[in-house]
Amino acid sequence: MPSSLINRDLISINDLTKNEILFILQLAKDLKAKPQPTLLQNKVLASLFFEPSTRTRLSFETAMERLGGRVIGFADKDVTSASKGETLYDSIRIIGQYADVIAMRHPLEGSARRAAEATDKPILNGGDGANQHPTQTLLDLFTIQETQKKLTGLSIALAGDLKYGRTVHSLMQALLHFSPRLYFIAPKTLQMPEHYLEELKKNKIKFSLHEKMEEVIKQADIFYLTRIQKERFADSMDYERVKNVFRLTLAHLIGVKKNLKILHPLPRVNELDDKIDTTSHAYYFQQAENGLYVRQALLGAVLGKI
Ligand code: CP
Repeated sequence: MPSSLINRDLISINDLTKNEILFILQLAKDLKAKPQPTLLQNKVLASLFFEPSTRTRLSFETAMERLGGRVIGFADKDVTSASKGETLYDSIRIIGQYADVIAMRHPLEGSARRAAEATDKPILNGGDGANQHPTQTLLDLFTIQETQKKLTGLSIALAGDLKYGRTVHSLMQALLHFSPRLYFIAPKTLQMPEHYLEELKKNKIKFSLHEKMEEVIKQADIFYLTRIQKERFADSMDYERVKNVFRLTLAHLIGVKKNLKILHPLPRVNELDDKIDTTSHAYYFQQAENGLYVRQALLGAVLGKI
């Protein structure tokens, strides 16, 4: 195991090398095949969710419990002293004295990095504003590998809210290691931010920008759809203008590759027709389950138990 993963923070997917990513994916595969119910006995996870979550929080907590560890934390910042004005730095400095590892989500970009300055316990970023969601990326990569039997050289379409969607930002950066052909599909106002496109150019990754799903879905091995992030819009009228532009339906699946898998970090709102759920292309529920094994792998690795 890369010894450097012990006690490490995971704030951005760029904190991990390609080898470290592959190592975590292999650990997750091993844990999926063979559970380790006592691996993290006597270890405590602090699960701090300053912003709503279903999958990330509950899979982190289940991951810890199924490895024999314990969980403290909160799912609502209003029940904490943050509601009395306590700073994030002070909160994390204190909680770091109670727990061995901290998983957190916070609405502010850069909050996870700030938390890491407050404690020497590993901080695992479960999403900071529109910035990064690196543990989601690990489970996305795990799922891509599971469904396509490889990570390199795939045609991957990223669709939906590419401006505010932190999952696509992290995923795109991780994919730089795996020579993909990328397609970005979004309304003009929600396209991938320019600095990410510059990163792709610097790394000589082929990509193109599109407004309609049907322009590229037939070429894709993976179609990664995201929700329009209503909570990130400063002006609700801007949200109203784009909210129904994107909807993947059965009609889009005519003529697609047999191996195409549709992924979605979830939750979905109305961009993904539930009639797709029963097709062989739908894989988003299995994708969410994989979060459990990837987060187990990460907890085991940063706590030096694997
Ligand atoms: N994919 C994801 O982050 O889901 P939650 O917001 O439910 O955690």
